[in-house]
Amino acid sequence: MNVILFGPPGAGKGTQAVFIVDNYGIPQVSTGDLLRAAIKEQLPLGLKAKSIMDAGGLVPDDVVMGIVEERLAQSDCTSGFVLDGFPRTIAQADALNQLLTKMGKRIDCVVSLEIANSEIVQRISGRRTCSACGKGYHIRNAPPQREGVCDACGGSLRQRDDDSEAAVQNRLSVYDEQTSPLKEYYRSIGILKVVDGSAAILDIQKQIGDILEGCKCDHP
Ligand code: AP5
Repeated sequence: MNVILFGPPGAGKGTQAVFIVDNYGIPQVSTGDLLRAAIKEQLPLGLKAKSIMDAGGLVPDDVVMGIVEERLAQSDCTSGFVLDGFPRTIAQADALNQLLTKMGKRIDCVVSLEIANSEIVQRISGRRTCSACGKGYHIRNAPPQREGVCDACGGSLRQRDDDSEAAVQNRLSVYDEQTSPLKEYYRSIGILKVVDGSAAILDIQKQIGDILEGCKCDHP
């Protein structure tokens, strides 16, 4: 099953992707995570992306397509994948279609997490991420057992560089202008499913589970 998790910054795409990975045994392909890994490894594309990401802009489509094409060609994506944070522009969605057609695949389902901007700001300001293993937390909604320490690996928790107030405002504007039109793009081909992203984490997990079971029946 090939799934897109869609939604604005802080909607909970990364949080829900983890459940899909655990329940369906397909990998999460997060362009944000892939770009952050390239920055950490000081790869040329990471160095190019860093200032754009810190300001809350979008990394150029050709750069993102390159990393997605490379990732989807890996063997763990053979029986499916969950795309998180990609595509983000109409050009990326068109390029993804072409790539999947070439690979003899298609997107089965696009799950859109819908949430108000006021809630997004509260979520992003409380988000903490493990600097060692990348596990995500929220200081109120999903806190670690020990403040500032990752439950999974003991690493220290930090705020993302692009979670500053100015960058978040820019990320929201970019989402409205360049990414939200993709909802209509996928609605028009009948694969968009809308979920209330402001519900509790486990309720959303259940709703997504029901949607994906339906997708499996539609596209066995
Ligand atoms: P990316 O890493 O994709 O960031 P994003 O889309 O802005 O999304 P976030 O990771 O901020 O949020 P999320 O929806 O995953 O929420 P989360 O689950 O963490 O992209 C970063 C940057 O990389 C972009 O700005 C761009 O520069 C570049 N980039 C990436 N992809 C690109 C592309 N395709 N093209 C061009 N550039 C690209 O949840 C947030 C917080 O809320 C957490 O603390 C969590 O614990 C909490 N939470 C989650 N769900 C709930 C809930 N239901 N109730 C209460 N709290 C919740």
